[in-house]
Amino acid sequence: MSDEPAISVVALEKKFGSHTVLHQLDLAIADQEFVCILGPSGSGKSTLLNILSGLETGYTGTVKLGAQRIGYLFQEPRLLPWLTAEKNVDFALDGCAVPPARRPQLKDHYFELAGLANFRNYYPHQLSGGMRQRVALVRSLCVEPAILLMDEPFGGLDELTARRLRIDLLRIWREKRKTIVFVTHNAYEASYLADRVLVMAQGRIRDEIAVTVPRPRDYDDPAVFDVNREVVRRFLAAAELAPETASPVTVPAQDALPILQSSGGL
Ligand SMILES: Nc1ncnc2c1ncn2[C@@H]1O[C@H](COP(=O)(O)OP(=O)(O)OP(=O)(O)O)[C@@H](O)[C@H]1O
Ligand SMILES: [Mg+2]
Repeated sequence: MSDEPAISVVALEKKFGSHTVLHQLDLAIADQEFVCILGPSGSGKSTLLNILSGLETGYTGTVKLGAQRIGYLFQEPRLLPWLTAEKNVDFALDGCAVPPARRPQLKDHYFELAGLANFRNYYPHQLSGGMRQRVALVRSLCVEPAILLMDEPFGGLDELTARRLRIDLLRIWREKRKTIVFVTHNAYEASYLADRVLVMAQGRIRDEIAVTVPRPRDYDDPAVFDVNREVVRRFLAAAELAPETASPVTVPAQDALPILQSSGGL
């Protein structure tokens, strides 16, 4: 573990035309830290991840990442439709430095983990939306990134699958010592996964909550429920702090509701 932050962002400002989407944002994420970002729709979460990944440019401020190999699980699967699930993963592997000898073992492991062992030869159009997202998850893990950026990766999955993948993700994070930045609308998911939850609103980080529940965590630990309550309270307070709260786009009901209703579930 290094003392240098894995991710360091200073005075980041991003505009689309005249619209400032990120405002003087500062962020330091420690090596091997698991950070969740929670925020209303349109608050700039995906834009921030796009900048961290290097895909989005044209900003002011500084962004430094301490690792070369970055995995990015987008909000949507972004699979190549003319390639099978496995060939999509191969395509990503071809572009990274994972030694070829390791690849079959990695693919077996992660396809199995994602419940897709029997679907490797399926084309994206033959898979359900949730299965496509799981192929994208396999792709992001197979490249063995030191930093993993995940944008609402489990949002479109059924609760049983999402729960299993959250538990597996924590195990992978612990075993492989990754730094993870994970965007979600689900406060319980954030409370279970994170070392630290950042609350974003209107392009700013408004609050942060350290999650001190000891690890390894039990998914149904009452302490996680307590953190969830606190995170929801702080999220609502932060959203109300946002200057344009009067605008109907600030906290649309459909985004606020899952947070309020989220719970340990099954
Ligand atoms: N390429 C773009 N061109 C113009 N505006 C953009 C572009 N990408 C994002 N925006 C704007 O930036 C703002 C933040 O968008 P972003 O996708 O980062 O939000 P988000 O927090 O990820 O929302 P969600 O939770 O709905 O995914 C929005 O107002 C959006 O319209
Ligand atoms: Mg987004």
